[in-house]
Amino acid sequence: MQLLDGKALSNIIKAEIKEEVDKWTAKGGKKPHLAAILVGNDGASETYVASKIKSCEQVGFTSTFVRLPENTSEEDLLNEVHKLNNDADVDGFIVQLPLPKHISENTIMEAVAPAKDVDGFHPINVGRMCKGLPAYLSATPFGILEMLERAKIETSGKHCVVIGRSQIVGLPMAILMQRNTYPGNSTVTICHSRTQNLKEICKTADILVVALGRPEFVTADYVKDGAVVIDVGITRVADETKKSGFALKGDVKFDDVAPLASHITPVPGGVGLMTICGLLTNTLKAARREVY
Ligand code: GUN
Repeated sequence: MQLLDGKALSNIIKAEIKEEVDKWTAKGGKKPHLAAILVGNDGASETYVASKIKSCEQVGFTSTFVRLPENTSEEDLLNEVHKLNNDADVDGFIVQLPLPKHISENTIMEAVAPAKDVDGFHPINVGRMCKGLPAYLSATPFGILEMLERAKIETSGKHCVVIGRSQIVGLPMAILMQRNTYPGNSTVTICHSRTQNLKEICKTADILVVALGRPEFVTADYVKDGAVVIDVGITRVADETKKSGFALKGDVKFDDVAPLASHITPVPGGVGLMTICGLLTNTLKAARREVY
């Protein structure tokens, strides 16, 4: 079994991004600038945004953190989005999800200027991705593709099973894996909460991407011998032995599945860190105007 070590790989990729930034600024380019909007005080979202901002510092980007209270109205949030759309110094920005229930995530995602949508959530970027046109790719699937590529995992003709049909992970992951480029050319099956015979389908996967958000859901009886197992889940589970009071659990029961897998991602230290690399890569592209 080979561990797909997101920590080591993300450090390598961040060093490469930093080198690109240094070259860009040496030629007179402006430092890439990423802004992040966080609405409310969700603990996990706070941690993710803090990590994104810290990563910006590590690669030599400028960053701006816009923090808004939980009771922010949709209109006020739209105003913040318009401000960032019109701020010539900001190359790209994200609105951290999930948003409070009274705000429509679709309305907000559609308000972000496609050229600054470094999360790749705007319908124009999703549509361009589907057509194979230059686009910002959703950061988590992008990070997973990078992981498969750097580990030289064969994907052509393989059966890739994605559990989860979310707009930000499952769906774009499935679309990217069936493209006629590497990493891709897979035969893809998307499974979800209504799927029948889930276990049997997963058992036929050469590459199993698990993104359903249920801690330790996938056990050894879902996995074929020699499969590549990508765990996207990250859930906080109460754990009194930890100083924080919680432990982070993936969607895959790691100790049970790892002996069967040819490659597997750990949680934490797997896909999560690669997501940040996807976001940084998109922001660098935005600064260099490579997509739009
Ligand atoms: N919430 C969970 N993942 C993501 C992500 O990639 N981007 C944003 N904006 N919110 C998220």
